[in-house]
Amino acid sequence: MAYGLLKGKRGIISGALDENSIAWKVALKASEEGATFTLTNAPVAMRLGAIKELAEATKAEIIPADATVVEDIENLFQKSTEVLGGKVDFILHSIGMSPNIRKGKPYGDLNYDWYQKSLDISALSLHKFLQVAEKQDAINEWGSVVALSYIAAQRTYPFYTDMADAKAMLESIARSYGYRYGKLKNVRVNTVSQSPTKTTAGSGIGGFNSFYDFADKMSPLGNASAEDCASYIITLFSDLTRMVTMQNLYHDGGYSSTGISEEVIELLNK
Ligand code: NAI
Repeated sequence: MAYGLLKGKRGIISGALDENSIAWKVALKASEEGATFTLTNAPVAMRLGAIKELAEATKAEIIPADATVVEDIENLFQKSTEVLGGKVDFILHSIGMSPNIRKGKPYGDLNYDWYQKSLDISALSLHKFLQVAEKQDAINEWGSVVALSYIAAQRTYPFYTDMADAKAMLESIARSYGYRYGKLKNVRVNTVSQSPTKTTAGSGIGGFNSFYDFADKMSPLGNASAEDCASYIITLFSDLTRMVTMQNLYHDGGYSSTGISEEVIELLNK
């Protein structure tokens, strides 16, 4: 059911790779809720082609940008404000990648060039988005920026290796820039810490299926789906959450507050 929560709002949505992507669901819901937006992803992701379907379904223009390249981001903001006919009201940062995870490197044998790449793609890119937006004055007063995080920023998950460090940095950037942009333009910046979700990025983590099941059994409400995550993000883009900023918001069915569950005890007793 749509509520018109984003009626008249303009935005930029990054990270929609295929229909499993969290960003894909956000784009569909943002469109249902009355928003207009541009879609962006790394030029290499364009070649896979699926994003074009999403663009057609949501009447959005695609503006390729490598999230590590400042000139690409400058072009993204410039073009977006042109295409949309004004400054944006919301931005979704849904970008993450670790070459070390892709290549199965353990935490004690990280390739440092790749480590820096992980941080650049998955964390620093949020700063780059915000700094470019500030310099171009591209976000309207009371705009909302949301980036996706994971609880490995607070607790250790051995297979999450350098992405854990990237997420900790991402959340810190959201706080630091949230303060700055709040003072400047009343723009809010938050991270949403999502349950394990079956997407391309998620499934790349070693042992993903086991920790997906574990999290599901630990959470009183079960794992939150990508679709539910999208609904939550829409509320954060809407005017109903204007005073929420600099927060890391758990969207995880209660996982982050649970010590142990009956289901997990049952499993251990088997
Ligand atoms: P996904 O694989 O569909 O999305 C990741 C996106 O990052 C892709 O669209 C990819 O093309 C984009 N990307 C990678 N390198 C890029 C670059 N250099 N420039 C621009 N874009 C680039 O997977 P998902 O799960 O939807 O990931 C979205 C966000 O959610 C990520 O930040 C991820 O870490 C986070 N997240 C995912 C969870 C999961 O279990 N799937 C759990 C918690 C957070």
